[in-house]
Amino acid sequence: MGTVTSIVVLFVCWTIRDSVKMKDIPEKHVFITGCDSGFGNLLAQRLHRKGFIVIAACLTEKGCQDLKACTSPTLKTVLLNVTNPKSIDSAVEYVTAETGNKGLYGLVNNAGRATPIGPTDWLDMEDFHRVLDVNLIGLIEVTLKFLPLLKKARGRIVNVASVMGRLAFGGGGYSLSKCGVESFSDSLRRDMQHFGVKVSIIEPGFFKTGVTSLEIIEKDLHRLWDRLTPDIRCSYGDKYFQNYLKVQRLSMKTLCSTDISKVTNCMEHALIARYPRTRYGAGWDAKLFWLPLSYAPAFIADIMLQLLLPRPICSKRSLAKNQVDV
Ligand SMILES: *[C@@H]1O[C@H](CO)[C@@H](O)[C@H](O)[C@H]1NC(C)=O
Repeated sequence: MGTVTSIVVLFVCWTIRDSVKMKDIPEKHVFITGCDSGFGNLLAQRLHRKGFIVIAACLTEKGCQDLKACTSPTLKTVLLNVTNPKSIDSAVEYVTAETGNKGLYGLVNNAGRATPIGPTDWLDMEDFHRVLDVNLIGLIEVTLKFLPLLKKARGRIVNVASVMGRLAFGGGGYSLSKCGVESFSDSLRRDMQHFGVKVSIIEPGFFKTGVTSLEIIEKDLHRLWDRLTPDIRCSYGDKYFQNYLKVQRLSMKTLCSTDISKVTNCMEHALIARYPRTRYGAGWDAKLFWLPLSYAPAFIADIMLQLLLPRPICSKRSLAKNQVDV
């Protein structure tokens, strides 16, 4: 009885602490990367409505124009390609001029890409670089270059990782990059606590955004499959590719939530709450399936993930048989 009461009291205290908000939101500057679409785009609009001074970074000119068209002139946009150091430098210059001597209150590292994704032996180094350069190296460079401004304002950093940063599957640079974001953010948080800079990690489950666009993923899978050597293709079998596409379609349709505000709510909390959380699992699939599974012993995660993906025709047994035949 005593234990239950203590747990209830602790939970109530935590909930109250968690809901305390910062004062004087207006006049605070927030810089968000990847605002062309998805989480970044929605977050920019919502923070703008709440009175933040939003500087939204988009990869494309069209992204900037579309965002300007549905907001007021107090929302500023800048072009930013996080894989290009010069582009980051000019964004920092712009934000330095905009914020004057107040510094930057919020940095939301949201820009990311998922493709190329696929079984590991379908990929080459270029495929890994394309994802890692944006999701991890780009994020680190943006963070390093904005840190002086963030320290000045005793600001907040919000990094978008993924459940796939906690549980690696699907091959390619995506899980790798998100796992890197988790670890970079952890050490950054520990280093920056002395300066009053707080770091939060967002771990979304599957959501429908540009990153999970089935069209882009399928087109890229076709590219990977078509360039495989006959040996590798034969080891998987044509049927594998068809099944892989089927699983991809089915999982995108059934797993992906369309309510991306679940993710932006977490980002908002990390910026507005007096005590931002270290980690935010966003979406029921993250909270109830992926994150708990990431704590399970590896063999259980292996079995669960094996159930989700198709098997190559040349699995261990048939490979052994071929070797005997030769
Ligand atoms: C981003 O910058 C990199 C490196 O300069 C370049 O290769 C790439 O094409 C750029 N991407 C876009 C969309 O401009």
